[in-house]
Amino acid sequence: MTNKIKVSPSILASDFSKLGEEVAALAKAGADYIHVDVMDGHFVPNISMGPSVVKSVRDRTSIPFDVHLMIDPIEPYIDEFVKAGADIISIHPEANDNIEKCIDKIKSHNVKAGLAINPDTKWEVVLPFLDKLDIIVVMSVHPGFGGQKFIPAALEKLKLLRKKIDDSHPHIELEIDGGVNFENIESILEAGADVIVAGTTTFTGGEKEYANNIAKLRG
Ligand code: DX5
Ligand code: ZN
Repeated sequence: MTNKIKVSPSILASDFSKLGEEVAALAKAGADYIHVDVMDGHFVPNISMGPSVVKSVRDRTSIPFDVHLMIDPIEPYIDEFVKAGADIISIHPEANDNIEKCIDKIKSHNVKAGLAINPDTKWEVVLPFLDKLDIIVVMSVHPGFGGQKFIPAALEKLKLLRKKIDDSHPHIELEIDGGVNFENIESILEAGADVIVAGTTTFTGGEKEYANNIAKLRG
């Protein structure tokens, strides 16, 4: 792990009534990516936002949009998220869709592809796809809601994936998503994550604290 730690604030925790301003403020505060949590009320028990929302705020910054699709099916919606301006699209292997086909479709648009793995999913599920992946997202909460408690078993998964990535696919980024805070960030960085998603923690204290919160998450 040689690159600098990246922070990808989740706009799920932002004020949706001024989403464009929030995106601009996060970029100004030093965010590396904008993490967009897309929930369909079927794969996860919550509904958040779709491609039209992404499109409406995409021009507020030039930093990459890191789109996390918690949806099933996946394939019918990929083109729309690409058109809306996604730079990275992560999907879940737990969905009942053809994962390889979905990854190929994402990559065919020159968009980066990721797999996000749930707390109950073995890390080895990524192995058949390593040659095609740009990012692996370890979920440290059961997806569906922001503000949940970090599941410590994710640390072991991070360590095993860090080793695998370093050994054979060092360009793959390793992202942690869910329940990250100032108390657990040190152990998360030690375990080898290099992209940190943070919703609640980024937004704590309001806009004046965004830059400070983001900087503190870099360790
Ligand atoms: C959970 C989402 C996460 C979450 C992060 O389903 O994928 O991105 O919103 O929010 P915090 O940091 O509040 O756990
Ligand atoms: Zn997410």
